[in-house]
Amino acid sequence: MNSPEKLSPALTRHLASRMDDIEPFHVVVLINRAKELEAQGRSIANMVVGEPDAPTAPLIAAAGIRAIESGRISYTASLGIAELRDRIAAWYDTRYAVKIPRSRVIVTAGSSGALLLTMGTLLSPGDQVLMADPGYPCNRHFVRTMEGEPIGIPVGADTAYQLTANLVEKHWSPKTAAVLIASPSNPTGTLIDHGELQRIHATVKAHGGVLIVDEIYHGLTYGKRDRSALEFADDIFIINSFSKYFGMTGWRIGWMVAPEQYIEPVDKLAQNLFISPSDLAQQAAIAAFHPDTVALLEQRRDAFRAQRDFLLPQLRSLGFDIPVTPEGAFYIYANCERHTSDSYQFCWDLLEKAGVAIAPGLDFGDHRAPQHVRFSYPKSIPVLQDGVERLRKYLGK
Ligand SMILES: Cc1ncc(COP(=O)(O)O)c(C=O)c1O
Repeated sequence: MNSPEKLSPALTRHLASRMDDIEPFHVVVLINRAKELEAQGRSIANMVVGEPDAPTAPLIAAAGIRAIESGRISYTASLGIAELRDRIAAWYDTRYAVKIPRSRVIVTAGSSGALLLTMGTLLSPGDQVLMADPGYPCNRHFVRTMEGEPIGIPVGADTAYQLTANLVEKHWSPKTAAVLIASPSNPTGTLIDHGELQRIHATVKAHGGVLIVDEIYHGLTYGKRDRSALEFADDIFIINSFSKYFGMTGWRIGWMVAPEQYIEPVDKLAQNLFISPSDLAQQAAIAAFHPDTVALLEQRRDAFRAQRDFLLPQLRSLGFDIPVTPEGAFYIYANCERHTSDSYQFCWDLLEKAGVAIAPGLDFGDHRAPQHVRFSYPKSIPVLQDGVERLRKYLGK
């Protein structure tokens, strides 16, 4: 995307050196091609995009409309509207029996805004952040943008694709500043064991570092109750969002819960980078906690579970190896070695020849990426069924 040969000489001269390390989403090229094929009249079984396809919950949409009609959409306090911060704090009490003061809740432009503020607040040039490989692709780029060094630690089925205290200990260096955990994880949908998370926290503390826990897929767990890291400590950066459970991806609204002593520096940075989060999205998000909205979101969560329960055995019967049952988010990370040794090419072949769109492992890191693909399943069962039939035909199963 930013390769020098495609840019004019005047532009290349001004490109920051960090840009060499910022990669595009490889899957975007594939998504664009899928759209092109659809425009040509081909139907595509789309299991690639990481968002639910349901409309915004009615009460949230109505609150947004009311906000526009009031004619008063302005800057808000940089840390967010007090009422929304209170509702988020109350959510921790309801869901996890954890009491946090409003002062620690910071409303952001999606969890992306929260991750950027966290890295900007914590990292000096050269500081390392440990994270799982495979993992959410943007994490390494948030770190690099702040002149830090992302360290991807290879993880596999033996640890449910999550970091462990031993792995953190083994990879800690004098330059390590922080550890980032995401549970449930993108792309694997796996959860970290709560006890292991506590051991990681103890290890990080013993080294004088900071633990960041991305809880963006909380609310979307199937069977196991999701447990917040705030249940056992208050010196952790918690990242969360209205994008996934609350189904508000395009509203660009999320939050973080920061340790008390970091609020003032985070606030300074938020004022400068964003002035404030979107007033419109904040006013709408207040309705996200209404009991009727939560009831609807719980129904949607149950539907995701049914979709996972449909897709998982089908993929296994097609020869995809999925050693750890994903218990959250809406992804299945599958080993495709029985079908290919090059998952990137495999995804392209599937799109062009079978009309199935899935994401190649390459987008999520380096570790065994050519052997893996990610299926995203927040789709109706007929769509998933169609995808499975196409795969079956293409793979000759
Ligand atoms: C693990 C993880 N963290 C953060 C994000 C960013 O989401 P948003 O900025 O929409 O809250 C995503 C999006 O897919 C994700 O999967």
